[in-house]
Amino acid sequence: MTAGTKKSQAAQPRGKEESPTNADATLAGSAFDELIGDDEAFRRALVSAGRAAQSDISVLIIGESGTGKEILARAIHQTSRRKNKQLVDVNCAAIPDSLIESELFGYEKGAFTGARTEGRKGYFDEAHEGTILLDEIGDSSLSVQAKLLRVLESGTFKRVGGIRNVRVDVRVISSTNQDLADLIGQKKFREDLFFRLNTFTIPLPPLRERRGDIDLLVEHFLKASGAAQKQKYRFSPEALAMLHAYRWPGNVRELKGVVSYALNMTQSPVIDAGSLPNFLVSESRSRDGAAPPAAESGAASLNLTQAVRDLERRLITEALAASSNRSEAIRALGISRRTFYLKLKEYGLE
Ligand SMILES: Nc1ncnc2c1ncn2[C@@H]1O[C@H](COP(=O)(O)OP(=O)(O)OP(=O)(O)O)[C@@H](O)[C@H]1O
Ligand SMILES: [Mg+2]
Repeated sequence: MTAGTKKSQAAQPRGKEESPTNADATLAGSAFDELIGDDEAFRRALVSAGRAAQSDISVLIIGESGTGKEILARAIHQTSRRKNKQLVDVNCAAIPDSLIESELFGYEKGAFTGARTEGRKGYFDEAHEGTILLDEIGDSSLSVQAKLLRVLESGTFKRVGGIRNVRVDVRVISSTNQDLADLIGQKKFREDLFFRLNTFTIPLPPLRERRGDIDLLVEHFLKASGAAQKQKYRFSPEALAMLHAYRWPGNVRELKGVVSYALNMTQSPVIDAGSLPNFLVSESRSRDGAAPPAAESGAASLNLTQAVRDLERRLITEALAASSNRSEAIRALGISRRTFYLKLKEYGLE
């Protein structure tokens, strides 16, 4: 596949005839069903996303880590006219400056020593007639930003070692957990690129601002784990209260990890506080001003392996919350990238 089609024009958001209730109703039975939550700000985000899906408008999704930016982007793509083509997820923070051009635009055969003889497609080629997700855009280097701006403005690019301009038809969704206006002030983000990406912004609320959704999400993750089919698992009222009291720096991703941790730990279908990670129990208790948890004086806290796992999980979660991207978290933790990803998997933090 090569270029050829016209770059799509960013359409305007849908007109007044579409009330939020109508738009909301049309989300049912679509990819948006995977996004669980009844909170008002969260539903507003889904309705906006549902509208954006009906056009080619550039969308910027903002929200803390783990709030669901990627699944929202996928839902937009899957309900758009581009659903049968690819959604290409580009981690903008991870592209080394030396490889920007070949990663984004690909290269022609024999473009440079070591290049594959048949050449290689870049992300923009792969996303032709589909959607490109510019993930962690706030963490992209100024050089990546410059290249992105050029292709977004002209709708064309040159492959490395190529001479002709390749034209692509790509819908752009970008996402970030950073405050782009702030980065612009610090000269770390280009204002002209910001205006290109920011035509339609969707903010996703952090979990601590939509605690009312915790029960629904817990139920959803219990069901999705498949365990609930064999046995009816549920959290005890005390454990649920702790989930409500916790501050959730890692948002929905962290909650999903805690549910899977608790399912692994519990000996009974009623999951109690003793099956929750220690850090969550102690934080919830200290917020409540209540007595230390029974589990802390019981066998659970004396198990060294378990205590080490709890601490490890907590440090990783906190590093993720405090860092603007995963590379920064890896550096802060002082572990290898490979170990980091293995641990994310192990603790259900992916
Ligand atoms: N509203 C939701 N309903 C169900 N699952 C959710 C919801 N929000 C997030 N998740 C789940 O939480 C995890 C993290 O979501 P996602 O990867 O979309 O977050 P993100 O905002 O892109 O995070 P990051 O900034 O770290 O990349 C995924 O497993 C996703 O399925
Ligand atoms: Mg993401």
